[in-house]
Amino acid sequence: MKHKSGIKVMALVVALSAVAAMISACQGAAGPQGPAGPQGPQGPSGATPSAPAPKVKALGAETPVAAYPAGVQLQLVGLADEFRIKYSITLVNATDRDLGNITITVPLPSESRFYELATTPEGAALKGKPESSVEWTLGKLAARTSLGPFEYKISVPKQTAGPASAKAQWELPNAGSVSAAGLDFSKIAVNLPKRGCTACHELRDNKTGAVTIAYEAMERGGPNHPGLPFDTTVSTCLTCHKPGTGDREGKGAVAPLMLRDIVHPAHLNSPSFTGTYKGNCFTCHNVDGKGNFTLLGEKSKTDFRGIPDEAPVKSIPPSEGK
Ligand code: HEC
Ligand code: HEC
Ligand code: HEC
Repeated sequence: MKHKSGIKVMALVVALSAVAAMISACQGAAGPQGPAGPQGPQGPSGATPSAPAPKVKALGAETPVAAYPAGVQLQLVGLADEFRIKYSITLVNATDRDLGNITITVPLPSESRFYELATTPEGAALKGKPESSVEWTLGKLAARTSLGPFEYKISVPKQTAGPASAKAQWELPNAGSVSAAGLDFSKIAVNLPKRGCTACHELRDNKTGAVTIAYEAMERGGPNHPGLPFDTTVSTCLTCHKPGTGDREGKGAVAPLMLRDIVHPAHLNSPSFTGTYKGNCFTCHNVDGKGNFTLLGEKSKTDFRGIPDEAPVKSIPPSEGK
């Protein structure tokens, strides 16, 4: 029983860190809810060898966590993070005996390069210099405790890298080892980068319309903002917020301001946009062959670098060019 609840706590920790990221995306003076938080990392992979596997609810996915007979688990999570792939490893000792003289060995996935060490928990030490694998040593892991995350980052010179794996060995109270199940590159939660308005501004609350762009318009636009259906696209915003002409030169065609004059500063000055989402010009734009900054109105499918999965890229030509 103890064993089972230990696993649940770990799953919760992973889930909570996703919630924390969501909260930090929700800052705002007037207090409107922020757009969707980044996708959480994939749930921990199961340890081998496998015994009857209790199902553990992690991040909405039923992740089977195999129960190691001695109750020691090694959890491995991968997360695409700013062009690099970060692997996090946690060692869980759910037994009632202390483990001693522990080594955690994490071979670098094939087709990957060691980039940097991200986290070494207190009490652990890096062994040697990471070349073909990253190794940490640890004097002791007390009964019913866990230690982590051990984290390192790789860069991926090609389109994908091979699967990740991790192994922990200990000498005390008697020699033993445990491995994390191989983690396939395609299973790594890719939470960055996002491209296209609806990659972040999706409908999350049927009552208020949060956090669609229509919701943003009505929250930020104030009580006089025209009412808009929650599925309003950016093309509709532009009917009023495109650049005006004649005596409306430099203003919105109908609205006081052009959309660019609203969204450029509101995003690029927002710590949620630049921090949590690592947003930049290419979050909303593509640049076409004539040098036009076309607009990504819809969420576009990309790989971990933000490179589109489909061509031509669906984007809206600039208002002036129409
Ligand atoms: C990568 C995520 C992301 C994408 C993509 C994105 N936004 Fe945002 N947007 C944000 C965040 C974060 C905020 C909240 C800023 C704050 O309050 O800190 C925001 C706020 C806004 C606001 C409120 C501005 C104000 O007046 O404060 C509008 C309007 C908006 N977005 C429209 C858009 C449009 C239109 C697009 C597509 C062209 C878009 N956003 C794409 C993350 C995103
Ligand atoms: C029918 C015309 C119309 C449409 C469509 C429209 N707006 Fe507006 N918008 C306005 C007007 C008018 C105002 C000024 C409201 C005021 O000052 O009371 C405004 C103001 C705003 C503001 C406040 C800017 C500021 O000064 O802080 C934001 C943000 C905004 N609109 C975003 C949007 C977005 C995003 C969309 C599309 C989802 C959109 N609007 C669609 C007419 C429109
Ligand atoms: C939150 C989304 C968003 C981000 C981020 C963003 N833009 Fe824009 N940008 C827009 C919108 C919306 C328009 C207005 C499009 C229209 O009126 O047709 C626009 C218009 C433009 C235009 C005019 C279009 C053209 O080709 O004439 C340029 C240039 C531009 N943006 C450059 C940038 C640059 C450079 C950055 C990064 C520093 C940036 N944008 C970041 C949403 C964004």
